[in-house]
Amino acid sequence: MFGGNVAEVSARSFGTASSAAVRPSRASANSNIALVKYWGKRHDAPAHLNLPAVGSLSVTLDGLSTTTEVHPADADAFLLNGAAVDAKHSSAVKVFRHLDLIWRTAHQSQQRPPCRVESTNHFPTAAGLASSASGFAALTVAAASAFGADASTDRLSRIAREGSGSAMRSLWGGFVRLHKGTATDGSDCRAEQIFPASHWDIRVIVVHCAVGSKTVGSREGMERSRITSPYFAQWVDTSEADLSGAAEAIAERNIDKLGEIVEHSSCKMHACMLASRPPLLYWNDTTVRVMHELWRLRREANLRGFATSDAGPHVKVVCEASSADALAEALRKVPGVHGTQILSIGPDPTCALLS
Ligand code: PMV
Repeated sequence: MFGGNVAEVSARSFGTASSAAVRPSRASANSNIALVKYWGKRHDAPAHLNLPAVGSLSVTLDGLSTTTEVHPADADAFLLNGAAVDAKHSSAVKVFRHLDLIWRTAHQSQQRPPCRVESTNHFPTAAGLASSASGFAALTVAAASAFGADASTDRLSRIAREGSGSAMRSLWGGFVRLHKGTATDGSDCRAEQIFPASHWDIRVIVVHCAVGSKTVGSREGMERSRITSPYFAQWVDTSEADLSGAAEAIAERNIDKLGEIVEHSSCKMHACMLASRPPLLYWNDTTVRVMHELWRLRREANLRGFATSDAGPHVKVVCEASSADALAEALRKVPGVHGTQILSIGPDPTCALLS
């Protein structure tokens, strides 16, 4: 399966059960952006399963990726973008815990051998964009290869979820839908590719509205909204309609229909965040200026771009390929914008066995 020295393979052809040695492996996975958002976790299931309260629908992004290598080592080590991370730091602890989980999938109760994990984010410098989706997807695929885990892409996606909910969607390229499921053991919470990237040539323009990272992490923010926001129940109740509407719009390649749902889902999530106690306000003044300019461009120049944003101030604009250049140029001029980046829809993860 991984013939030769370095065999580039798709993650879905991945997996043979093997001996308990660690085989040096490298995987790359792309980040994704939710067109229909996930915010909030289920509280009727064990917390470690990290089960979402709502489904979500995303596109995988070309050009925002993480490459991760897993090697045998004398002691556990984690290097991020070339720099060693203290083994006690929370990010390293999460990485090693994730390795344990994947090792148990491959070898049940045997003790996991120590590993060196080298992870590199290929993201625009200081963009403040979330890398947890590509990071946990790449780590899951690389470790599963390194440990010889005999796991399907579906299984890998469920494992990635325990690191980060959005990582579950980065196991596929193209358009991906995550079904939240209802079983308390998480067995029916799964993601799937609903269309490959070739289905529809759309773009996502990342409009950088700040430098630096977000203030309240998504895990903490989600819990705050679930516990305190009076809108959380409505957010959950109305999500399935957005999901089926968006899937339909993508099937029809209808940008206006999709765009309306994209903006609604994002604004509804931010309204739910804002109604939390204390309030969660991830937008800054530039975010709001960009949205007003985008809406003006739609009204006055018929440029069909639609805004979505996550737990941070950046705006991501969903549009057809033909309007991307004009939209990016106009939005770059909004005061406070640090730059724009036009991204295509990205492919499946890749994995290589190194020897
Ligand atoms: O999976 P996390 O913990 O990175 O949370 C992602 C939450 C949002 O980015 C706000 C929405 C989403 O669906 O990606």
